[in-house]
Amino acid sequence: MSEIQNMRRIHVFDTTLRDGEQSPGCTMNLRDKMLVAEHLEALRVDVIEGGFAIASAGDFESVKAIAGFVKNASVASLCRALPKDIDRAWEAVQGAKRPRIHTFIATSPIHMEYKLKMTPDEVYRQAVNMVKYARNLCGDVEFSLEDCSRSERPFIYRVVEGVIAAGARTVNIPDTVGYAVPDQFGQLISDIRANVPNIAQARISVHCHNDLGLAVANSLAAIRAGADQVEGTINGIGERAGNTALEEVVMALHTRREFYQAETGIDTTKIYATSRCVVTVTGSRVQANKAIVGENAFAHEAGIHQHGMMANPLTYEIMTPESIGLPRNKMVLGKHSGRHAFESRLGELGFHLDEARTQELFGKFKDLADRKKTVSDADLEALAHGVQTMVTERVKLDRFNVTASNAITPVSTIRLERDGKLVEQVAASDGPINASFKAINQILGLKVTLESFQLNAITGGTDAQCEATVRVRDGERVYHGRGISTDVIEGSILAYLQALNVLLEESNPK
Ligand code: KIV
Ligand code: ZN
Repeated sequence: MSEIQNMRRIHVFDTTLRDGEQSPGCTMNLRDKMLVAEHLEALRVDVIEGGFAIASAGDFESVKAIAGFVKNASVASLCRALPKDIDRAWEAVQGAKRPRIHTFIATSPIHMEYKLKMTPDEVYRQAVNMVKYARNLCGDVEFSLEDCSRSERPFIYRVVEGVIAAGARTVNIPDTVGYAVPDQFGQLISDIRANVPNIAQARISVHCHNDLGLAVANSLAAIRAGADQVEGTINGIGERAGNTALEEVVMALHTRREFYQAETGIDTTKIYATSRCVVTVTGSRVQANKAIVGENAFAHEAGIHQHGMMANPLTYEIMTPESIGLPRNKMVLGKHSGRHAFESRLGELGFHLDEARTQELFGKFKDLADRKKTVSDADLEALAHGVQTMVTERVKLDRFNVTASNAITPVSTIRLERDGKLVEQVAASDGPINASFKAINQILGLKVTLESFQLNAITGGTDAQCEATVRVRDGERVYHGRGISTDVIEGSILAYLQALNVLLEESNPK
């Protein structure tokens, strides 16, 4: 008991919606971001970084909307150490229950010389003055020394001391380029603690990138050396090789709490649902053998392991699937399953939908159960994510007809419903899916680029549902769509239409 009372509390700062979103292909629209923020609240992260308010009007609106919606976590906006950036960040977060301004400037010789074209003294003054400026607006200011792991020790100590004296409550030590290794990064934190006289007046945070695959290891080394806050993203998404995968740090601390003598405030049973939500809205899948949330993370295939597991799960299991919110027993539902069984399984899988959405989903479940003998957890999850991420349908598929063979050019006839009217178009192309997308573009008069297209079977078997995900670009903006069906062409058309419906809604809101 005393051991638990002495545990250090590590704060979890989630930047899925900012640093995570910066990674290629992970762009999210406002609805997607709100859905992720809802999951992050349920997960009980301490801070949600909603975006980089000055980056675009869309970023500003998202941060503002998240600030207005989140009840428990602090909501931060990133901003450069410049008055106009800080003003914009404050404008976006000031409506939050717990607003935070997160400002940064680079401190490494290479960044200062080539990127900022500033001397160390100028950088120091800018950092201190901008923290003071931000503190005049907001009581909670975090300051980051960009590229800190490649900065010089005496300068790090000077800047950290200066910004704490200026009012920063959290000082973040980023390994911006993923260059650090655990022993060295842990030592950096120890040295900062030993050499900055006023360090006790602020929380030390760490923010690691995964270029050498060491982001989680570096973060844990830093925590062991005394860092109080860890930054990262769900599933480790982020620029280049990504950020620290928060679910991995959280479960490492949870599983090895006696070693670390530290814990987070995270409700670990919400990890799985949050991870799935991020996969759905970004279209960025996690590898099957990814720690904690990969498809095989809790699968015991080898006979000798299965035998051990049956005798005593602890033989091969260091944490339970239930601890991350993944039900152990895969329950199979079918067309005779009632609403009660359906709803209770949905709850076990981490979905808590309102009555209208539950009803909608139950209808889809019954349709699928008619087409497929059994409906697995994976099927149910796919349907539930589909309903959760449903968009306003400006255009709807009425029907399609495809003629394809290896002897003729494939032709697709698409009929869409738009503003209560049916519109039909025929198009030919090198494949039936391409022909269908072409027909849709012609109906809607759009010139968009299909940047990525993926088809996956959700379960095994010839009657499996397929999940199609698309990424469509219209100029600067990127839109994701997802469609599921037992028919690959229908699934693909639905995914494409979902992406275009978001585009239509965004370009012409009602
Ligand atoms: O990687 C980095 O240095 C960052 C900071 C701006 C916090 O994302
Ligand atoms: Zn970063």
